[in-house]
Order: sequence, then structure tokens, then C-alpha cells
Amino acid sequence: MTEVTAVDLIQEEVGLINDRQSPIDDAEISDYLANKSLNLKAALDPEAAYRDADFVIIATPTDYDPKTNTFDARSVEGVIESVMSINPGAVMVIKSTVPVGFTAEASQRFDGKPDFLGGVPARRATSTPRVLSSGERSARAETFARLLQEGALQTDVPTLFTESTEAKGIKVVVYEPVLDEAEFFGSEVIKDLELFKQRSDLILANRLTPDIHDIADKVYTRDLFNSDA
Ligand SMILES: NC(=O)c1ccc[n+]([C@@H]2O[C@H](COP(=O)([O-])OP(=O)(O)OC[C@H]3O[C@@H](n4cnc5c(N)ncnc54)[C@H](O)[C@@H]3O)[C@@H](O)[C@H]2O)c1
Repeated sequence: MTEVTAVDLIQEEVGLINDRQSPIDDAEISDYLANKSLNLKAALDPEAAYRDADFVIIATPTDYDPKTNTFDARSVEGVIESVMSINPGAVMVIKSTVPVGFTAEASQRFDGKPDFLGGVPARRATSTPRVLSSGERSARAETFARLLQEGALQTDVPTLFTESTEAKGIKVVVYEPVLDEAEFFGSEVIKDLELFKQRSDLILANRLTPDIHDIADKVYTRDLFNSDA
């Protein structure tokens, strides 16, 4: 079973995970921690966790500043720096929300040495994915996709390997009924919701609003409680 160490700065969160309790209010995570067989521990010390890791998944906060239109990715940069000093051979997978091109810039800043792999779905999409999409075509991308397959509830999830920055293999369409233009940043704009639903295999939406409940299994959303709150 894949060995996983969760690293956090907060003692209380680390303690809860080691006591098999969820630090956040989430029924599925609570059930897994309480009842499933997991090879998981939590730690405050990154040294011990990163030292022998094959993959480091970075999910630290990156608050968005609407005034400057930028993400504060300093915590992600801090973890990259730490991984580079402790275990430079580890492959880093960034789950934090970062701007397009962030990994290329970070790679340059560290003299091209960090090893990044793109493409990790949100947690609910990790347990019940329709498609796994990985940010490159390589042996290590296949290894990582296999780890995600192992963690998924269903077997035989189709896996799509794409290039990292442009995800060239994926055609993107946008649903925006009030936009007059036919294209938005190079993507086709669809104004008919039913047509958009038919055409889309996966949908990224800020909120799980009632008009997309019928295709909820296609929707990746940051609406954690599916309540449009
Ligand atoms: N919540 C989601 O469903 C979701 C989905 C997709 C992407 N994201 C992205 O993931 C990132 C994290 O989001 P979140 O909602 O989990 O945030 P969060 O604030 O709930 O959790 C982040 C955790 O990271 C810890 N942390 C901060 N700096 C750290 C460091 N240097 N080393 C180790 N741990 C550190 C914090 O103590 C905190 O427990 C953000 O960039 C967010 O945009 C979140």
C-alpha cells in the first residue's frame, strides 16, 4: 500500500490526523480515517517526510488578491525550496491554485532543477473520477496516474496524458450566454446550456448550481458542500 505522510505547520491538525480524525468537516474523509486501512501518518517536520519521498504533492494556500489580480504563491515557493534542499530528486505535483506558467518560472528560479508534474484533481474528483488527466506523457506521469487509480473507488478510469502548460489534447469550450464574442481567450463560446452539457465530458464550475445538477457527475467544482452557498 502506498505510504503517505501529510505535512502541516499546525500541531493540532497533525495530531487529529494521527488520531484518525478529520481536521475538516467532511463525511467521506472522516469515514476513511476512522474505518479504512490506510498507510498514512502526519508530521510537522518536512525533513523526515520529504527525505525518501518519490512524489511531493503541494497543497498550501495561495490566496487570490483581486486588486493585483495575482495569487500569493509564497507558501508553494517555500515548499519547493524545502524539497530542493532535502530531496531534489522528488517529483513535485502542485495542487495549490497557481497561475499558468508558474512551474516554468519556478523551474527557472531554481536553475531548471526542480521536477514538476502537473494535473491533480480535487479530492472528490480523486475518489470518484470520470477521467484522470496528467500534465505530461512520461513514465513518472504513468506511475502517478497509477497511484491515483489505486486511490479511486472505481477501477478502469480512463487516463489522459497531456502536455503541461497548454493541455493540448483537451479541447476547451466556454458556456457564457451574455458574451457576444464567438471566442473567449481562444476557446469557443457556447450560449446554449443543453448543447454545452452535451458537448462537455468534464465541466469546471465555481458553484454546483441547480441548472447543472443533472450532469453533476461531470462537474469539477470548488463548491465544497454542493450548496451554491
Ligand atoms: N479546497 C479545495 O477544494 C481546493 C481544490 C483545488 C485547489 N485548491 C487549492 O489548494 C490550495 C490549498 O487550499 P485549501 O482549501 O486546502 O487551504 P487550507 O488553508 O484549508 O489548507 C492549507 C493547509 O496548508 C498548511 N500549510 C501552509 N503552509 C504550509 C507549509 N509551508 N507546509 C505545510 N503546510 C502548510 C496550512 O496550515 C493549512 O492546514 C489553494 O491554493 C487552493 O486554491 C483547493
